[in-house]
Amino acid sequence: MCGIFAYNGDTDCREKLVNGLRMLEYRGYDSAGIVGINEKNEVFLEKAVGRVSALASKVEDTSSDKTFYTTGIAHTRWATHGGVTQENTHPHISSNERFYIVHNGIIENYKELKAWLESEHNFYSQTDTEVVAKLIETLYTGELKSTLEAVAKKLVWAYSLAVIDKQDPGKIVGIKLWSPLIVGTAEDGVYISSDVNALAALAQTYTILEDHEMVVIEGKKYSIYLAGQQVERASQNIEESQKIDELGSFTSYTEKEIFDIPSVLENVWSGRINFEEKSIQNETLDALWDLDIERICIISSGSSYYAGEIGGYFFRNFSKIHCSAIISSEFLSDVFIPDSKTLYVFLSQSWETADVRESMKIVKAKWCHTFGVVNVVGSTIARMADYGLYSHAGVEVWVASTKNVIAQVWVLLMMALSLGQKRDMQVSDIREIISELAWLPDKISHALMDAPNIKKIAKKYSKYKDMFVLGRNYFYPVAGEAALKCKELSYIHCESYSAWELKHGPLALVSREFPTMVFNPMWKFYAKTISNIQEVAAREGPILWFISSTDTHKELYTDAIELPKTSELLSVFTALTTSYLFALYLAEALGRDIDKPRNLAKSVTVE
Ligand code: AGP
Ligand code: GLU
Repeated sequence: MCGIFAYNGDTDCREKLVNGLRMLEYRGYDSAGIVGINEKNEVFLEKAVGRVSALASKVEDTSSDKTFYTTGIAHTRWATHGGVTQENTHPHISSNERFYIVHNGIIENYKELKAWLESEHNFYSQTDTEVVAKLIETLYTGELKSTLEAVAKKLVWAYSLAVIDKQDPGKIVGIKLWSPLIVGTAEDGVYISSDVNALAALAQTYTILEDHEMVVIEGKKYSIYLAGQQVERASQNIEESQKIDELGSFTSYTEKEIFDIPSVLENVWSGRINFEEKSIQNETLDALWDLDIERICIISSGSSYYAGEIGGYFFRNFSKIHCSAIISSEFLSDVFIPDSKTLYVFLSQSWETADVRESMKIVKAKWCHTFGVVNVVGSTIARMADYGLYSHAGVEVWVASTKNVIAQVWVLLMMALSLGQKRDMQVSDIREIISELAWLPDKISHALMDAPNIKKIAKKYSKYKDMFVLGRNYFYPVAGEAALKCKELSYIHCESYSAWELKHGPLALVSREFPTMVFNPMWKFYAKTISNIQEVAAREGPILWFISSTDTHKELYTDAIELPKTSELLSVFTALTTSYLFALYLAEALGRDIDKPRNLAKSVTVE
């Protein structure tokens, strides 16, 4: 899940590479490194364990070196093979100290290759990447392009690689299979990046490489090749929306993104919902529902999985269609029984998640209907899925997904209502829901105003080591998502259950030291969930209740977070938003690095 950045042009690469890595740091922040070469075949190499800022200070310390290193590659690492050490930090190097490489992915056959190369090379790291550097030297044909074609044939994916040859300055070769690689052009040269956003501040256009393609950059020009043949590909302009916003007065991007939620909702529905006519108007969905579909299967991971679970309730309730949500890695682990009457919906903020993409490949191979909901503009969704809608949440910079989950849930709701329009749903019911939805940004803004109170409560709960998070029906996946966000940001152990399920075993853990969070606003299961809360209270477990009014049942809860008064449907969105604030402040009280939680990276590009 590492980030690759490279530059070839007529100015010094060092500052550009470090700035590129800062933008890609969400992909991994175990260690970082850069290498630059100049026309005299001199090399500038710097590596640092830890954050990109550690590398940046090392590079700044060399500012007295006025040489122009005009060709350079850079890497920020999320370790898969080998610990977080200086030796394992990229760029990696061949034995003859001629070829430097950076790599995103996993070389599954690296052990076999290493065993084969060991008679010829000594290895200094535990990485799979170093094996590729040595392989380049062994298979060198006299120039890089044909060498990398030969190397690629030996590698069992996944990879995106950028390679430079000290003896051939002014040239970078990149290849990719599965991991992303994007080429950007600017007046000062050509860039390579793992995503478009990192290019936004530097380049004007971008081109996304497809699997098995190779890019050869020479001077300020580049060419793309597939199986040795040049490929013509139009580049796209980088849009304003692909640039990353300033942090402003917020202390973390995660906090900023939670406070962005009201405006995100307006982006998502813009041009898709007609609030005057109170109907969903979307050509993609109209075409989709012309297909003969009897079931829906939603496939996704992590937070996107919980969004999918919530969507399942929408489809069953409003469209009256069978719908199930499945974790993408489990989909991959199971037997696939293709069904031409099922619509397979894939949710992914990034569209880089390895298990989601692999699942889609399996479904597509059987010619079943696919639909993608993706946030990152410029992803391969348009080419891979038969149909798709962007979640339009704007750039989500760091690890925790928040505003995009809300946007995904919103897209799924829109899909469910649109299908409801075509099936048996009463027009008056749709109109009522759409009128209500118009109020959602205001209701969420109202929920966000409670931040100081939520902060106070989160501080109190930060002393606990474990927590249960309960909900039923819609609020069961809401509880799952809240528990994931608390774990991810605060490192407190949180487990979610359907509220009734607690007495089937987990209740044994409840004690004065083991609190329970419960999502139970005013809704159809309000009274029944109160009985479950009572069962916890009877065992003296502290209770934090997400409720519509703190005026009732005061004897039951230890603390309460009041959700704005809304319909059951809208409270799904306000509950999610409030739980994000709670997780954020829990982590803040514990002094966690909010944007860069330990052991994680935003894009899970490896299996
Ligand atoms: C969310 O906070 C997590 N970082 C993670 O669970 C994420 O949602 C998951 O990895 C899926 O990512 P995707 O939506 O980009 O596929
Ligand atoms: N396998 C390489 C390493 O561990 C790259 C990791 C990645 O892209 O996640 O350094």
